Amino acid sequence: DTIKIFCPATIANVSCGFDVLGLCLESIGDEMIITKTNEKGVRITAITGADLPFETEKNVAGVAALALIEKLQPDYGFEIQIHKKIKAGSGIGSSAASAAGAVFGINYLLDNPLTLKELIPFATEGEKLASGTAHADNVAPALLGGFTLVRSYEPLDVISIKAPEELYASVIHPQIELKTIDARSVLRENISLKKATIQCGNLGGLISGLYTNDYELIGRSLHDELVEPVRSILIPKFKELKAAAKAEGALGGGISGSGPSVFALSKGRETAQKAATAMAAVMQDIGVPFEVHVSPI
Ligand code: HSE
Repeated sequence: DTIKIFCPATIANVSCGFDVLGLCLESIGDEMIITKTNEKGVRITAITGADLPFETEKNVAGVAALALIEKLQPDYGFEIQIHKKIKAGSGIGSSAASAAGAVFGINYLLDNPLTLKELIPFATEGEKLASGTAHADNVAPALLGGFTLVRSYEPLDVISIKAPEELYASVIHPQIELKTIDARSVLRENISLKKATIQCGNLGGLISGLYTNDYELIGRSLHDELVEPVRSILIPKFKELKAAAKAEGALGGGISGSGPSVFALSKGRETAQKAATAMAAVMQDIGVPFEVHVSPI
């Protein structure tokens, strides 16, 4: 009656898919242990690696868990242990990992009454607590793996997108905390028709490139007209990081989620490793502490 869960980090937006596209980082993530108890309700019994609230209603995993048990009305309760490895405010889906892990674990311990897709809305309740909006572009890939597209929010329609086997992500996380809620407050409400047209072209191009294993097309499509121009101002050496990764053969890159992490996509682990090393050198030059990761998708 206990499950140990790997809760993966994720990259939301993936440049041209603001709030709709996301991908799962297979080798980076938190660990959660969830235990079924006779006492009803949800209790957070341990948190390591981060300073997060133990009160269920104030904890992202707790809120997602409560939303799910409100729906399923089980005869049991649950104890949750959270062991964070993904830093809060890093831009690689820290809150989504917790929310997705909580609903996955509880659903599993109840013999999977809901499908993974059906769990998404409950996990987004946790995201809402963390960032003020119930965006699903981190929780969807955390639950389903690979690339996901939120085709529609109302009604919620999430699609798994096929991706080439050899696609790897490099992520650099400058250790400055950027809260999603703040990174959203700088965004413009309205966009021009011209920008919308460019964005649609790139999003379509990226999806097509993923399905056809066309790495060049994937690279050409990793471009963002809508949020990157505004948010990149908040990220030290953003342009240089992207250029350094591309100079080593990365296909392209951008801001990971709402930042400050910056990602690059590459064909093959070796290129992804080189891109990560090049981005690390840029950060080292300006003396900002950072973490760097390479992961298959
Ligand atoms: N799509 C969200 C945003 C992701 O860019 O604000 C947050 O991680």
